[in-house]
Amino acid sequence: MTLIIKLTILSVLLTFVKTDFPLDFDVPDVEIERSDAETMFRLPEDLDPIHYDAEIIPYFEATSNREAFTFDGLVTIYVRATRSGINSLIVQENVREILHITVTDEANVPILLNPMNPFERLRQFHFLRINLGDGVTLENNRVYKLTIGYLGNINETPLSRGVFRGSYKGSDGRIHWYAATHLQPTNSRQVFPSFDEPGFKSTFNITIYRPIHFTESYSNMRIAESTVVGDRVKEVFHQTPRMSAYLVTFHISEEFTVIADNNDAARPYRILARPNARGQGEYALEVGPPLTRWFEDYFGIDYYTMGPDMKNDQIAVPDWASGATENWGFVSYREVRLLYEEGETNALDKKYIGTITAHELAHKWFGNLVTCRWWDNVWINEGFASYFEYFAMDGVDPSMELEAQFNLFYLQSALSADQSASTRALQHTVNTPAQVTGHFSGISYSKGASLLLMLKHFVTENTFRKALNYFLVDRSYEHAFPFHLYQSFAKAVAEDSTVDRSINMTEFMRYWVEERGYPVLNVNVNMNTGLIELTQERFFISASAQTTDQAWHLPLTYTTGSNPDWNNLKASEVMTGKTHRIQKEARHEWVIFNLQQKGIYRVNYDTHNWEMIASALKQNRENIHYLNRAQIVDDVFALMRSERITFNLGFQILEFLKDETNFFVWYPAVSGFTWLRNRFLHLPDTLAEFDAILLGYLNAVINELGYDVRPADTHTTILNRFFILAYACNIGHEGCLNNAVEKFTALRTNGVSVNPNLRRHVFCEGLRDGGYEDWRFLYQRRLNSNNMGDQVAMLRALGCTTNERAIQEFLQMVLSDDVKAQDRVNALTFLYMGDRNNAKVALQFVKQRVNDIRRAVVLPAWFDNVLINLASYLDEEGLQDMEAWLRANQATVPEFQTGLNAITSARTNMQWGTDRASAILRAARGSAAIVVPTIMLLLTTSIAMMIR
Ligand SMILES: *[C@@H]1O[C@H](CO)[C@@H](O)[C@H](O)[C@H]1NC(C)=O
Ligand SMILES: *[C@@H]1O[C@H](CO)[C@@H](O)[C@H](O)[C@H]1NC(C)=O
Ligand SMILES: [Zn+2]
Repeated sequence: MTLIIKLTILSVLLTFVKTDFPLDFDVPDVEIERSDAETMFRLPEDLDPIHYDAEIIPYFEATSNREAFTFDGLVTIYVRATRSGINSLIVQENVREILHITVTDEANVPILLNPMNPFERLRQFHFLRINLGDGVTLENNRVYKLTIGYLGNINETPLSRGVFRGSYKGSDGRIHWYAATHLQPTNSRQVFPSFDEPGFKSTFNITIYRPIHFTESYSNMRIAESTVVGDRVKEVFHQTPRMSAYLVTFHISEEFTVIADNNDAARPYRILARPNARGQGEYALEVGPPLTRWFEDYFGIDYYTMGPDMKNDQIAVPDWASGATENWGFVSYREVRLLYEEGETNALDKKYIGTITAHELAHKWFGNLVTCRWWDNVWINEGFASYFEYFAMDGVDPSMELEAQFNLFYLQSALSADQSASTRALQHTVNTPAQVTGHFSGISYSKGASLLLMLKHFVTENTFRKALNYFLVDRSYEHAFPFHLYQSFAKAVAEDSTVDRSINMTEFMRYWVEERGYPVLNVNVNMNTGLIELTQERFFISASAQTTDQAWHLPLTYTTGSNPDWNNLKASEVMTGKTHRIQKEARHEWVIFNLQQKGIYRVNYDTHNWEMIASALKQNRENIHYLNRAQIVDDVFALMRSERITFNLGFQILEFLKDETNFFVWYPAVSGFTWLRNRFLHLPDTLAEFDAILLGYLNAVINELGYDVRPADTHTTILNRFFILAYACNIGHEGCLNNAVEKFTALRTNGVSVNPNLRRHVFCEGLRDGGYEDWRFLYQRRLNSNNMGDQVAMLRALGCTTNERAIQEFLQMVLSDDVKAQDRVNALTFLYMGDRNNAKVALQFVKQRVNDIRRAVVLPAWFDNVLINLASYLDEEGLQDMEAWLRANQATVPEFQTGLNAITSARTNMQWGTDRASAILRAARGSAAIVVPTIMLLLTTSIAMMIR
């Protein structure tokens, strides 16, 4: 699956990048209590499911004996006994009702069930236990057929996964229903009783009885046979490849259709969607087939021969819980992640269409063909898919500079996700469905992918490729443990001798997989002797964290001021212990480690080396590779926060940003500045001065970018402008505000279209500046839009209003069908992001409508997020109000403890700012070339206020 970035701890998904959320939430992970009972959630391994036949009859309307939005199911599972003496069979199920069960041998001779108690449903564990008659047992290695008739639910929203229903408004203005499935990670058990763990692989024959007035249904495979049966059409699909049950899918609808097709019978590739999205599938079709080829070349295994008669469909589903899901032969995406419309889709969403397609296609090899044995190592699926998300798409379209973007969107995000004391290792024990879902978290994606990047440069790309090929060939149609991967690397490295023989690849990799966190490399250079003394220790973002005795295998790369070489990314040394020494030439020059930031570590230097780097950056920053400038910026903010360097030194190094215009350098800078600024929101004087200083940093980059998209802009220039202007407007940059309001007015009064890459700040500032009528204008524009990316952009902007009536209508809208369940938590957050004061209004709404909100966001974890996000935006007065409410309503708000913890975090964040405000201002001011006179400062901020 594709992660949509975390609003907080548990939320699923890459929809939002780091800087998308100006308030980051330092909420400690809550350790879920463990007990022996948890392993009870795992299936015994005495049965091997070989094949499933599953038949589904969906009811979209009530009949005399069936409720609407239910289905009849009939499944036969062919199982092989892997031991003798089995007297009861256990499968997983979470269906509505079990109707009947029979067990036979292969020749259909019935096996006697216990007449008193033929089966039991152990609901807590989602188990169905089938009891054989007294003294009746299965024989080892024989095949049996287990047939179960049952009723299932078509859930109300995609968030419940399993089979769910969704809807959209057609060109005819009517609401059209469809039913879809989302079974990853633990929800095939909602569709049929199953062996719902990734390690069990089977083939599946799916049959659907669709209503006759519906269009043809879709599943992993093509339809083999279609016959009319009464008022339904029976559609029998071809047998799937041998695969895990979570990869099964189907889609039943009135009118979903193919909107783009490569018309290549040998290598079919199609884009499907609701019919009124026609015209939006061309970009997805443009990237998909070349990506498929790229993977085939890279892995040496063809996609279209993975099974007989393979297809490669991608469907855009209006309602989808995650970003996308890799069902074999029929991948599902949120619309915004697949549908592109020129003039409506922005560059960031366009990039995600490419990268997420790459991610899902990569899963065909890593995830579908070879699958992690169990979800404790979900990184084997998700780390690879995330790595290739950038590197495969880079192979298909180098103009997006995705190899470099990987550093921002995965490597730096891994460093940030993995820096707390409560972080998890890539390999992390999980048992319950909630724990499983929780491990589909940032670490599994970003650290998994970053580990692969580091490995590639360590063993060299040819050897890396060879190792992956060994792994895929060895484990095809099977599951894999991490040691299979380690062995493949050890073998490839031994053959190619690309790594020093003293390095044991298994130990190298295992440490990174099994240990939590990552190191900071401390570098001490003796300028007189040229001796570099290195130490490593686990990096914690909190200054008060206890050190550990962990030591990683660290491939080291570095270069020097007198002879900089940024392109030799092969490690010159491997650090294996806590300390290491390198002797270089004695020279008065800086050194910089972690070239182009390909390694998972931060770097701290002695003060003198830092000062030399600061001065080199200031004098001629282009002498230092832009990815190392980006690395330095990202590290410096983390080192300041963790008190490993002073704010004075940090801001001295960051001084060069005043001349910097590069996207890759500014992206972490915006994140870093935003993090600090968020800790001053409760200190108006500090905030005003800090903003004035920040505005000084932005002049050069804004001058370079301008306020309009230009034909010659590169992809990353467009992204840079997109993020920089959103940030600049948000902190009150006058030019940005004026230009935004001008563009918004031109749109409203003369219908002058706003470039999608400027809409985020233009729409937001237009509403901040405007009144109720402006809000209604955008609200209506959103309802009329036929493009999901544009709709989400407007939903976000609608939260920027400060008009009281508009805020109330916004809150009502969030609970209505105008906002899809999957977007509701984000929508509420957009409101606080738009204006922090809106959080107090939202709090009153939450207090009044708590049960409606809980129902509207569907999942308990998502409701937790509502409370957590709200607290993180409230000021002290609001926090007191929220705290009093939670304490007084513990019976009706059982999630109160989550809310109280979030309140504590919010206060801690404010206190952090209060304690350090003067030191940070002093440091930031010290670096300000021109000290802004106080009167000027007051003037600019008051203008900014007025313009808002
Ligand atoms: C499943 O379908 C395939 C055709 O796709 C067929 O050959 C096979 O016999 C079916 N299996 C069962 C058990 O019906
Ligand atoms: C590498 O380490 C693993 C685990 O410690 C060990 O089993 C293996 O024999 C080692 N390999 C070599 C070549 O020494
Ligand atoms: Zn994925």
